[in-house]
Amino acid sequence: MVLEGKHILVGISGGIAAYKIPELIRTLKKQGAEVRVTATKSALQFVTELTLQTVSGARVYSDVFAAINEHSTEHISLPEWADMMLIAPATANVIGKMAAGIADDALTTTFCSCSARKPIVIAPAMNDKMWECPATQKAIEELKSWANVTVVEPAVGELACGTSGKGRMPEVEVLSEQVKAALTEKTMAGKRVLITAGPTVEKIDPVRYISNFSTGKMGYALARACLRRGAEVTLVSGPTQQKIEGYDGLRMVDVESAQQMYEAVQEAFAKVDMAILCAAVADYTPKEVADRKIKRQSESENLCLELKANPDIAAWLGKQKKAGQVLVGFALETDHEEANAQKKLQSKGLDWIVLNSLQDKGAGFGTDTNKVSLYSADGTKKDCPLGMKEAVSEWIVNQLTIAN
Ligand code: PMT
Repeated sequence: MVLEGKHILVGISGGIAAYKIPELIRTLKKQGAEVRVTATKSALQFVTELTLQTVSGARVYSDVFAAINEHSTEHISLPEWADMMLIAPATANVIGKMAAGIADDALTTTFCSCSARKPIVIAPAMNDKMWECPATQKAIEELKSWANVTVVEPAVGELACGTSGKGRMPEVEVLSEQVKAALTEKTMAGKRVLITAGPTVEKIDPVRYISNFSTGKMGYALARACLRRGAEVTLVSGPTQQKIEGYDGLRMVDVESAQQMYEAVQEAFAKVDMAILCAAVADYTPKEVADRKIKRQSESENLCLELKANPDIAAWLGKQKKAGQVLVGFALETDHEEANAQKKLQSKGLDWIVLNSLQDKGAGFGTDTNKVSLYSADGTKKDCPLGMKEAVSEWIVNQLTIAN
């Protein structure tokens, strides 16, 4: 797990979005992190000290002069303990202070002593009018210019005052992802990666289609693993419930059919260093798409659908590939796994193929887990045991970055 054993310092300032922070702390801890909290006095009006202490398992640092403080210099010792600091929600007041170097309470003194040494993620949250304030914007620009700081843009949506606008703190999943990114070495900085994910949907008529059980979990996990390492990612995705937010380096291209995926990939491939083809592309599509719902004839009459072959996207890329471009395919097999994967590796002109087999419990479609073997065109084989798709993606991307 990316967060296993990591020390995360969460700084909370006084905005209504503070109510989401206990859930965030639980999410981080479930993924193996240790969490400590520093909060402003106003933050503790929105979320109680007892709640934060209970979910984090540690005393909350909110008063610089409290006699109970363990070291009396928590604003120095906490950053020393931490691998990174997250400030969420960051109010206009605290953003202004952090950018100006004002340190007049537990949170801002802690930030001040942390800010030159550790990765920092700041999640502003406020009313849209306060977000637009020139002083807030100037402070945000200042903080963004610091090499170790990531500012997660507020989301657009309903605000506490009942209006709608830009100022909402992003959801817990987005913040937890940004924490992981801050803790990941940027081994893919400057690299451009094309990833395909999810199923394709081949229309039969306006109400029916042919598809498969791919959820996109594996492809999106690979995209996140590359984004965390600093790569620019073009994610060509069939219809899925998956989401990635909070990354400037992500370009999403939503498609439905194999033909649309083919066109999107053709458009993107020339500019990338690596393509990872995780999508479950339909090999066949109806020869004709009926423009009205096909009606049932009689109980005894069968319906024959004539299918035509879809383009083989991987094989096309294998032919287009220039020196320096790396092409990684996937193979989902049910039998003769290794032989079939090797055949695809050769016939499609791939550099690598990731084999997952439906014979392995917990591997393949739909599940949160996978178990894979990675084969290279020059004959190497490595195995990754069953693990969460996030961990398996980390393993795959690590293998690919070491080798290329
Ligand atoms: O999305 P999840 O629920 O998380 O499931 C993940 C997964 C099981 C879909 C994924 O791990 C996986 O195995 N993806 C590839 C599935 C597949 O269609 O494999 P294949 O053996 O049919 O295709 C071989 C390769 O050729 C794949 O890289 C595929 O993207 C590519 N292909 C296939 C057909 C086609 N017309 N064009 C292609 O490019």
